[in-house]
Amino acid sequence: MSDEKASIVSAYRASQQVEGFLSRHEGVLLWHLATSRVGHGLIVEVGSWKGKSTIWLASGSKLAGNEKVAAIDPHTGSQEHKERYGLVFTYDEFISNMKKFGVSDWVVPIRETSRAAAENWAGDIRLVFIDGSHGYEDVREDFQLWFKRLEFGGRLALHDSYLIPGGPSRLVGELLMGKEPIAHVGFVGSITFLEKADRSLFQHARNLLLAFVFRHFGRVAGYGRPPFRFWLGLLLSATDRSVADVFWVNWQAFFRLKRSNGLSYKDLRP
Ligand SMILES: C[S@@+](CC[C@H](N)C(=O)[O-])C[C@H]1O[C@@H](n2cnc3c(N)ncnc32)[C@H](O)[C@@H]1O
Repeated sequence: MSDEKASIVSAYRASQQVEGFLSRHEGVLLWHLATSRVGHGLIVEVGSWKGKSTIWLASGSKLAGNEKVAAIDPHTGSQEHKERYGLVFTYDEFISNMKKFGVSDWVVPIRETSRAAAENWAGDIRLVFIDGSHGYEDVREDFQLWFKRLEFGGRLALHDSYLIPGGPSRLVGELLMGKEPIAHVGFVGSITFLEKADRSLFQHARNLLLAFVFRHFGRVAGYGRPPFRFWLGLLLSATDRSVADVFWVNWQAFFRLKRSNGLSYKDLRP
């Protein structure tokens, strides 16, 4: 088995054992972005919970010999978790999962809120994954805090932000119409990923088209229908080189994981 394949398969098996909020397609996307050598600096994750997404990010970065993952989370849960579970404390389980699945050497746990961590931050960042509180004001603050610290040429991914109702989707709809240097936007599962880069006229027009889809299509098609999200995401990504990432992710998630784990096509649907 190649090192790449072994890393994806082991990250997948590990993540299956960790309770969390990430599909395998989304996991493979994070792994892929973490292996990429675009930009330089650490990877920042806002919102780790018990480490499902952290395992994917750290596995990819470790395989490529890239920088570590700063995993920022006060580990006391978001509002929605507190309402569902009462008192939340995920730090001990997070640390134990990092050790158990062999990535603790590639993860720097920061037990703080995103804002507190950003205030004390020094150093370059090449990839940001935002999956903290999903309230609109909170996710907008997370974006503002970390986008300005992200290297030019670096990438940012937002969970639950593509055709799912809530703060992250609303934010992405606004960003696509805004003035921030955002280009090469793509979609996998519920994740929107983008590059901090100067926009050509084409990229500007493309962002506006995506903003239009964000505003109108969710309601037309019904939010949260995975097959619809998948095909529309593929079509939208196909207008740009981000489609190469989307194809790569789907190829790995369907075929590599299927063969290695004896899964059926049905189990692997995005
Ligand atoms: C949806 S969960 C993250 C799921 C995780 N990425 C996974 O793959 O399972 C959201 C997490 O964000 C954390 N969180 C809430 N507010 C935060 C803040 N201001 N800064 C950083 N993390 C925050 C919560 O403690 C919670 O663990």
